[in-house]
Amino acid sequence: MSDMLTQIKGLASQLRWAAEIDAPSIGTHSEVLCVGMGGSGISGDYAAAIAEPFGTRVSVHKGYGPVPPWAIRLRPLVVAVSYSGNTEETLDFTVSARDTGLPVAVVTTGGRLGKMAEDEDWAKIDLPAGLQPRAALGYLLGAALRVLEGAHAVDDQRLAFVEAAEFAGRAVEEGSDTWKKAEEIAGALSGRIPIIYGGGPISGVVAQRWKTQINENAKMPAWWSVLPELDHNEITSWETMPEVTKDLLGVVALTDRGDHDRVASRIDFTRDLTSDAVPWVGQVGSSGTFPLTRLVSLTVTGDLVSLLLAEQAGVDPVPVNTIEKLKKLLAKEDE
Ligand code: F6R
Repeated sequence: MSDMLTQIKGLASQLRWAAEIDAPSIGTHSEVLCVGMGGSGISGDYAAAIAEPFGTRVSVHKGYGPVPPWAIRLRPLVVAVSYSGNTEETLDFTVSARDTGLPVAVVTTGGRLGKMAEDEDWAKIDLPAGLQPRAALGYLLGAALRVLEGAHAVDDQRLAFVEAAEFAGRAVEEGSDTWKKAEEIAGALSGRIPIIYGGGPISGVVAQRWKTQINENAKMPAWWSVLPELDHNEITSWETMPEVTKDLLGVVALTDRGDHDRVASRIDFTRDLTSDAVPWVGQVGSSGTFPLTRLVSLTVTGDLVSLLLAEQAGVDPVPVNTIEKLKKLLAKEDE
């Protein structure tokens, strides 16, 4: 279908790679601050969902510095994640972390962030280069988790990597249940703007990933929200324009067994109350034992949906020209 499909198929081998690299030794930290943008930054959200049961708080910062006052007080381990190593917001925040004397570890293929890590003698995991950052999730998340392991912030994740890699390998095989589900959902979303709902730490974070993958691969608008919060605001938003929204939008709900028991009832009632104005076109439940596998299972379905939507729209999923143009405009302003 596209080179992006090959990149998505690489998720299993990326996770296996992460299982085999050495976890750097970086003391003991139960407070972590991941900084990164876009396809790199979301690895922090995924890491937060995995680290939470270990009593580790992973905060995620997506933007420029300076380091916020709470972080100056609590001194988290800063994990700077940038696939290219050249993302200006990530660099700016990392410089601020350095100047504030916070401990820093870096996940990157190189660039200016890689150079800064070498100059400062920070722990660094070097990723294989050559992919779109959003297609390198297995490397980015895998390396971030190995950093957390090296900081005693999560337990050894290697068994989880193996299970998740096995799942990802099977899921992308032609004719798999995951493909069938993706085809069903992409078909139901045809001509509609996707709205992705999640209902807990795992399904919520993957709802965000579905949204950004649809944005970047299919070049389509998409939005995400989480239950139960959306039941306190967004649920009322379908009242005034049903004749527009019913033909234009489609909701996909993601679920995971880590969602609160009440969320399943909320999904049913919310669907009943809103589906005349905004059709609910599909539901996807996670698979697997480890949180990592459950994250990966929902992620692969979404990645495939985004590719199928790209195909429907007749666009190449790989290039993100508008992002590149914006980066160039900003760079020009600096000259
Ligand atoms: C491109 C992509 C983007 C980048 C973002 C930050 O595939 O996913 O969202 O991830 O522009 O760049 P990096 O990841 O190099 O720090």
